[in-house]
Amino acid sequence: MFRHPPPRGRRTVGLLATALVTLSAGLTAVASTHPAHADTATLGELAEAKGRYFGSATDNPELSDTRYTRILGSEFGQITVGNTMKWQYTEPSRGRFDYTAAEEVVDLAESNGQSVRGHTLVWHNQLPSWVDDVPAGELLGVMRNHITHEVDHFEGRLIHWDVVNEAFEEDGSRRRSVFQQKIGDSYIAEAFKAARAADPDAKLYYNDYNIEGIGPKSDAVYEMVKSFKAQGVPIDGVGMQAHLIAGQVPASLRQNIRRFADLGVDVALTELDIRMTLPRTAAKDARQATDYGAVVEACLAVSRCVGITLWDYTDKYSWVPSVFPGQGAALPWDENFAKKPAYHAIAAALDDGSPTPGGNCTATHRVTSRWQGGFTAEVTVENDHTAPITGWAVTWTLSDGQSVDHVWNGALTADGQNVTVRDAGYNGTLGVGGSTTFGFRGQGAADVPTDMACASGQPSRTPA
Ligand code: XIL
Repeated sequence: MFRHPPPRGRRTVGLLATALVTLSAGLTAVASTHPAHADTATLGELAEAKGRYFGSATDNPELSDTRYTRILGSEFGQITVGNTMKWQYTEPSRGRFDYTAAEEVVDLAESNGQSVRGHTLVWHNQLPSWVDDVPAGELLGVMRNHITHEVDHFEGRLIHWDVVNEAFEEDGSRRRSVFQQKIGDSYIAEAFKAARAADPDAKLYYNDYNIEGIGPKSDAVYEMVKSFKAQGVPIDGVGMQAHLIAGQVPASLRQNIRRFADLGVDVALTELDIRMTLPRTAAKDARQATDYGAVVEACLAVSRCVGITLWDYTDKYSWVPSVFPGQGAALPWDENFAKKPAYHAIAAALDDGSPTPGGNCTATHRVTSRWQGGFTAEVTVENDHTAPITGWAVTWTLSDGQSVDHVWNGALTADGQNVTVRDAGYNGTLGVGGSTTFGFRGQGAADVPTDMACASGQPSRTPA
């Protein structure tokens, strides 16, 4: 009856360019007027100051560990129930529902003032075996009944539901789950409709892994969300699980979050961990810390990226070693509850960037001409925040041998390979959805920056 998910092997695509290492250094320049308090505030508080949540998954067996629950209850603004909202626990036999274990976690979160994400209603794993035996003609009704009962039970207590989990294969085709095989393509839309009917206020998410970067699988999810939006199927968000590998954070993460947001849905990073091959070393910890910082930065860069959840917070209770043999140390706290470099990188990234409660912007780079030894590029700065912004700064890292020798419609400061271009005064104010451009001439190869970041803030000069 209890089926553990099989190991899924290598689950991320793309290589993070080494240039990302200096991303937070570049952004620090923007935040210099913002008092640093990453050393005293919790991750939850730092995220809240940015209008986001920062949370952790947890699981019932851990709740008797008081060292564990002390940090769980104080450091995070949000909780995900790691296992016991899944079908095998909530409807272990047909029509018999049991929420005892799930409620233990929800009660605890509520007593700590934490919001809760519901995870998950329809999934091929941790599904009781009786569901496999439901005749094809009855499965849609059984699925609807399960959703209706569980969503109704928790109505008003959860911010999000992961309505459907992991419905796509790596190549973008539909996973041949029992729901897919017996109900057909329509089962996902039907699941969302049933969830909306049961709780009109919970935000409804599609959740999956290996959709953090742009590729065949995220393309398929993107097309599904687009068609749901066009047809009025009630979907509010996409959960990118983000079970990542140190050194392999997809370079297109931010761009991918952005394209989903542009469809009119929220994005959440729902199950973040960044694993490494054991044993831990200082170098691997440093790599992992950089990666955690980059993931947080990517979320903060898109205003519709609403929050980040760690898939538990301490290596003591990580699912990684049992599923990916030889790998682990994936979380920001070690197994003795000591904070690792990753913790500090997350705190710094959350504390960084735009002045609180500042808006956010995005910068898009385009090479406009190139010649032997040089090039010109145009950067479009767009206000993707929900309020006007006054002043912006774009940062990036130059590749080896690159330099910038002239900027127009912007003000350049360079510190080694770290470049900052601030607005030129007359183009510093951008209304909601508004954009402007600046241009620059570079020496060296016309490499496209992989870490270009934009932060809104105080105007760099008095508007003309
Ligand atoms: C995992 C839990 O962490 C494990 O304890 C359990 O044995 C299996 O499931 N994607 C998901 C999560 O959506 O529900 C999974 O959680 C991890 C992968």
